[in-house]
Amino acid sequence: MRPINPGSGKSRNRAVAGLLACVAASATIATAHADETKPFRLCADPTNLPFSSDDPSRPGFYVEIGRALAQALGQPITYDWYKSYFGKRTVRVTLLGKQCDAMIGLPRSEDFMGPAVIFSSTFAKEGYALVAAKDQAIGGVDDLRGKRVAVQYASTPQNLLAPRDDIQKVTVLSPEEAMQALDQGRADVAFIWGPVAGWLNMTAYNDRYQIRLTEGEGLSWDAAIGFAKGSTELRDRVDAILPQLQGTIADLAVKYGLPAGQPVRFGAAEAVPAGTTTGAGPGPRVTQVANVVATEIKGDAAAPNAETVGAGKEIFNGTCAHCHGPDAIQSERKIDLRLLRHRYGDDMRDTFRKTVHEGRPAKGMPAWKEVFTDEQFDSIYSFLLTVQVESND
Ligand code: HEC
Repeated sequence: MRPINPGSGKSRNRAVAGLLACVAASATIATAHADETKPFRLCADPTNLPFSSDDPSRPGFYVEIGRALAQALGQPITYDWYKSYFGKRTVRVTLLGKQCDAMIGLPRSEDFMGPAVIFSSTFAKEGYALVAAKDQAIGGVDDLRGKRVAVQYASTPQNLLAPRDDIQKVTVLSPEEAMQALDQGRADVAFIWGPVAGWLNMTAYNDRYQIRLTEGEGLSWDAAIGFAKGSTELRDRVDAILPQLQGTIADLAVKYGLPAGQPVRFGAAEAVPAGTTTGAGPGPRVTQVANVVATEIKGDAAAPNAETVGAGKEIFNGTCAHCHGPDAIQSERKIDLRLLRHRYGDDMRDTFRKTVHEGRPAKGMPAWKEVFTDEQFDSIYSFLLTVQVESND
């Protein structure tokens, strides 16, 4: 006997979802119609913990939410794994390219690729967080006075703290590096992407640090599930299910170490003079945040992004480091490239370009113009920008 009309896939799925919600014994129905059940196809990054991973032993916050949703929808889940480097590019290729039905963890904002992308209701709030030893006060921006604060290159916290002369910035390229700076005593506080901070604190630092969420312009946003604009029917079904999953989602947040608690508000007026919020977000790969890129929400493409910097760093360490030092750390002043700005000021870029193109063969610096493209030189330069210092003693 067929309990439901299998006529149209759409109405059948909705009926199955309704049935599953109230009839525990629906397993037989599900198997009887398994071949007709369309999978719930989720796009996710295979290497982006705490959010997602293709390792079934710890699939990540978003993937587990996806599983719970699929189960409530009465559909089997399948994955389209895509290593995301750019939030928008990933969304375009995967979700809008119809490789999947849903992408979890997009910023719920019309500015983020609307109207091509539509959103579920908010399932979590995500944001940057302050990380510090447990006995240190981090209740507001003034607690950071006189402190060394690790900020990620081209991130909102970096921009936010830039005008504050009373706060010393320690620029890093990733949340991992920020946590290391804390651990090694090179920074007092890390101001980094909260979910990643929580994950690292839990998995690598034995919960040694306290983590305070922050909120404010470009610092936090509502995470939602994104769909292609034609998928309003699926979106509406997901919205109907989400309230039931709040408990599950809260448990998963704890399981993956996501920071909780009342966020510290960083008002724009407090730290940033009017008009200077550039809103560069977490570097695209970064935490990947979460697939989410505040930079992109604001449409700010001016700041070199973490991917460019990372690519430059890789070339540098592969090719330049054996003369100029790993990560450009070099005690011999003459070849210490961290002093380029100090040495050349506004001519820094031109000097860099000329020197790497032509070399200074008589002095032992090879010419590289046959070896790298301009884009590669730009990425090396972007990396070098992140390590400039006033003196190397
Ligand atoms: C074989 C060793 C060697 C390698 C490899 C090397 N350099 Fe150099 N580089 C030098 C030396 C030596 C100098 C200093 C030349 C001088 O005294 O003016 C220099 C100078 C420079 C300068 C100018 C520094 C200044 O303050 O004027 C830049 C910029 C530079 N190198 C970039 C690079 C980059 C980028 C790479 C990798 C693509 C690289 N170098 C690889 C040896 C090297």
